[in-house]
Amino acid sequence: MTAGECNSTTMVMAEISDEELAEVATILGMRRSFDMSVYKDTYMKRRVAIRLRSARCGSVAEYCCLLRQSQQELDLLQKALTIHVSHFFRNPSMFDMLRQQVLPGLFDAASKAKAESVRLCCLGCAGGEEPYSLAILLREHFGRQIRQIPVRIIASDIDAATLATAERGEYGEERLKEVSQELRERYFRFQEGRFRLIPGIREMVAFSRENISCTDRYPASDLVLCRNTLIYFNRLEQEKILNGLAGMLAPGSILVLGRSETLVGDARRHFVTISLAERIYRRV
Ligand SMILES: C[S@@+](CC[C@H](N)C(=O)[O-])C[C@H]1O[C@@H](n2cnc3c(N)ncnc32)[C@H](O)[C@@H]1O
Repeated sequence: MTAGECNSTTMVMAEISDEELAEVATILGMRRSFDMSVYKDTYMKRRVAIRLRSARCGSVAEYCCLLRQSQQELDLLQKALTIHVSHFFRNPSMFDMLRQQVLPGLFDAASKAKAESVRLCCLGCAGGEEPYSLAILLREHFGRQIRQIPVRIIASDIDAATLATAERGEYGEERLKEVSQELRERYFRFQEGRFRLIPGIREMVAFSRENISCTDRYPASDLVLCRNTLIYFNRLEQEKILNGLAGMLAPGSILVLGRSETLVGDARRHFVTISLAERIYRRV
């Protein structure tokens, strides 16, 4: 089914109205159980407009007609609505701070409490670059601790295709721009133009498909990385998610947000700031 079979008119799109967005949201909600209402409207409108142009539809009504008839377009829209940009050691200074100021304290506390494991969680993990960076950091700098106490890294995302990429653990050079030559040689194998993570790192991360809006399904954690994901949600949903994250974290546990994200509303009362620049917070 092509757009042309719905309606042959193709014209430049004016801005998408709230009603038009709601119509697209209804179709995606019904056919894919994807809830668009939790994301920022401006962001959703921009992404829908991009799909509409690519599908050569001249109006939202025409695009909705296409959406009702094409599984492929539903896939493409859903993919366009979630951005999967990431790379290894994104914002390296945050990983430095984890290494120097956060992880030593978490391992000490776990050891004193005779905890069974240290639980680390990456939400909105995209292609796995972030949880694997954490795994490499642990292998590089916390070898003794991870031999003494098991570490579980759980990583999740809403998008099945991006999780499949994450599980493969295979990347193009552009994802490794912050990875030194030494680390590349130690933790990746270069095959047919791609960098494949060694099994020892891949095995440290367990991936699952979860919706960040349902944090009650996530395990209790000592450290949660939720970076560059919250930014796409509307403020009400951000507050709800942050309160959910607070529920996953025991007092003393750590939350890390992305550089352009911050604690909002009522959720602020659950945390004290460790580093404003790196968006690192401790659960009170
Ligand atoms: C820009 S990436 C962030 C990747 C990584 N955290 C980083 O900072 O490099 C945002 C990710 O959030 C995911 N995402 C969007 N909505 C989500 C939801 N409702 N639940 C879980 N993940 C979601 C997207 O699929 C995407 O992979």
